[in-house]
Amino acid sequence: MTNDRPTTGPGRPTGHAPRRPADRQPLLEIDGLSVDFHLAGSVVHAVRDVSLHVRAGETLAVVGESGSGKSATALSVLRLNPSPPCVYASGEIRFDGRDLLRLSEKELGRVRGRDIAMVFQDPMTCLDPLQRVGAQVAEVLRHHTGMSRAEAAKAALAALDEVGIPDPALRYRQYPHELSGGLRQRVMIATALVARPRVLIADEPTTALDVTVQRQILDLLVTLQHKHDMGVVLITHDLAVVAETADRVVVMHRGKVVETGDVLDVFDRPADDYTRRLLAATPRLEAA
Ligand SMILES: Nc1ncnc2c1ncn2[C@@H]1O[C@H](COP(=O)(O)OP(=O)(O)OP(=O)(O)O)[C@@H](O)[C@H]1O
Ligand SMILES: [Mg+2]
Repeated sequence: MTNDRPTTGPGRPTGHAPRRPADRQPLLEIDGLSVDFHLAGSVVHAVRDVSLHVRAGETLAVVGESGSGKSATALSVLRLNPSPPCVYASGEIRFDGRDLLRLSEKELGRVRGRDIAMVFQDPMTCLDPLQRVGAQVAEVLRHHTGMSRAEAAKAALAALDEVGIPDPALRYRQYPHELSGGLRQRVMIATALVARPRVLIADEPTTALDVTVQRQILDLLVTLQHKHDMGVVLITHDLAVVAETADRVVVMHRGKVVETGDVLDVFDRPADDYTRRLLAATPRLEAA
């Protein structure tokens, strides 16, 4: 079944026939990925033969219980799992015709943040507590583009404005601890998106926030995705969010993909027993 939900959205250029994400080539493709963690005396097979892909303009949700391998999979894309103990045992992660698992650190450094960016649950894992937030956003630009200090500062200010931070000139000069959790999350999103990556991987980006702020941050991500035609991989426990924002879903269980497909198809007619249990544990969706 084709995905016939509208692909138009805020910020999508008008005057063009919007292309359905399903018509487009995969932008990022994980193929047969297995990831192990070698611990003292044991090996955890965290990711087992996982394949998934995301296209430009599309949101792929990854769901599954705690420990099912969602973050280990996501972190593999930019090889951010701590190694040791992590070993990428098999598979390929293709982006732009290259296998990211086989790039040198230097080559991968150019992909990180510029082509593929990540946001996490806790902004403090990304933000430097000792540096003003504006400078941190500007630094990403200085690193990935040939911008001068003044150009980067100007673009960073515009980026803070774009993610809906009120009074961006004031906030620019503040330190992370001077911002609320919601504003910090917006700064992290600005940092992630300022170099205009083609893929954004968001790992539980709103879990730590209160419900109204969660909604605002998700709306922001959707708006920016449409505006910049990004492919988004959204890891979340919240199946209501998946139903609302994602085009396709991957269900993980014990390191494996147990089911994948169009969100509406999977939620209406789950084929896998684990998916059925996961959906049954979400009363709001059952009632919908
Ligand atoms: N750095 C690490 N060292 C050792 N084991 C790890 C490491 N990272 C993940 N694991 C193990 O890999 C498995 C998958 O973990 P992962 O963090 O990917 O789960 P998850 O699906 O993201 O869970 P959650 O929903 O709680 O975030 C778990 O058994 C976890 O303990
Ligand atoms: Mg996780």
